[in-house]
Amino acid sequence: MNVEELLRRGVSSLKAYVPGRSIEEVAAEYGLSEVVKLASNENALGPTPGAIDAIRGALDGLHRYPDGGAKALAARLAQKLGVSPACVFMGNGGDDVLSVLSRTFLDEGDEVVIPRPTFSPYAHVSRVMGAKVVFSPLREMRIDLDDVFTRISGRTKIVFLCSPNNPTGGILAEGELVSFLEKLPEGLLVLLDEAYGDFADDPAYPDSVSLIERFPLVVLRSFSKIYGLAGLRVGFAVSREDVVGYMNRVREPFNVNQLAQAAALAALEDDDYKERAVALVREGREALYAAFGGMGIEFVESQANFIFVRVGDGDAATDALMREGVIVRPGSAFGHPEWIRVTVGLPEENERFLSKLKGFL
Ligand SMILES: Cc1ncc(COP(=O)(O)O)c(C=O)c1O
Repeated sequence: MNVEELLRRGVSSLKAYVPGRSIEEVAAEYGLSEVVKLASNENALGPTPGAIDAIRGALDGLHRYPDGGAKALAARLAQKLGVSPACVFMGNGGDDVLSVLSRTFLDEGDEVVIPRPTFSPYAHVSRVMGAKVVFSPLREMRIDLDDVFTRISGRTKIVFLCSPNNPTGGILAEGELVSFLEKLPEGLLVLLDEAYGDFADDPAYPDSVSLIERFPLVVLRSFSKIYGLAGLRVGFAVSREDVVGYMNRVREPFNVNQLAQAAALAALEDDDYKERAVALVREGREALYAAFGGMGIEFVESQANFIFVRVGDGDAATDALMREGVIVRPGSAFGHPEWIRVTVGLPEENERFLSKLKGFL
């Protein structure tokens, strides 16, 4: 049997997502006892402590199915955000939200508009559904909404916007976002990915949830970054009730597992952890900027927990750093081979990265 003949159209040209390499892999390959991972924008503080206690407390209930739709979690989020629980869609990570969104709305022949470079799964989930991806290049490392607008056609169903953008870290300011939304034609959705929004301190960063009634917005957020729960997989979307209702028809019945729901509910009450995580990133960003300035290398100011830095040969830098026990993401993964993306870590992790980077340069 030739399996290729059975594939849905477009699947044979898809490529599997390549995640950042794990600490264990790198330690084993290079015989290192200590490895620092600054490659996947994880939270350097470790998981929210309250979440760990909640997971222990939930273990005895694992023979039962979880709350399908994670209704208790959605209700608590809705309360915090000041929206109806029917406006909150819960996913098995933000990745699941993207997948369900594309499966709910995209058909063969539809188009999506995606700035580039950005988070690669937007293009992937769209292509899986047979949609055509239209890219909009960044201008001076910023999403160019005027250019995005010119690429919208009668076939466009979804515009994907990431703010702060991964890998460049810039935000869409409230003014530019609202003007863009105001001039949009009818009949399309805007996915606004705010996975890193909690780290933003620019006063122009919008309260996007307050815009969901006026505009066709689907706001995506994640527990992976700000709450340090990447390994559990919890993310969510906030949008109009009808959008969320259709996405709930498409998702798997029990897409958010029991432990993840318990942990996320507890994490939401851990304001102290959240404040520490935000402070660590903001201080770390400043320290890294100062060091990059001192080394005379270019970087993009970031509102997220990572920084895009121009090091000359990004692949060579990534490789040299890895041999020294520091994992970063090469810019070549985003079409910018002279750059690397480094996650803001603990002060000692940032120091280690900087000293190895100096050695490379
Ligand atoms: C911009 C962006 N959106 C969404 C995600 C997905 O996050 P999650 O872990 O919730 O699937 C990531 C993860 O790196 C990301 O960088």
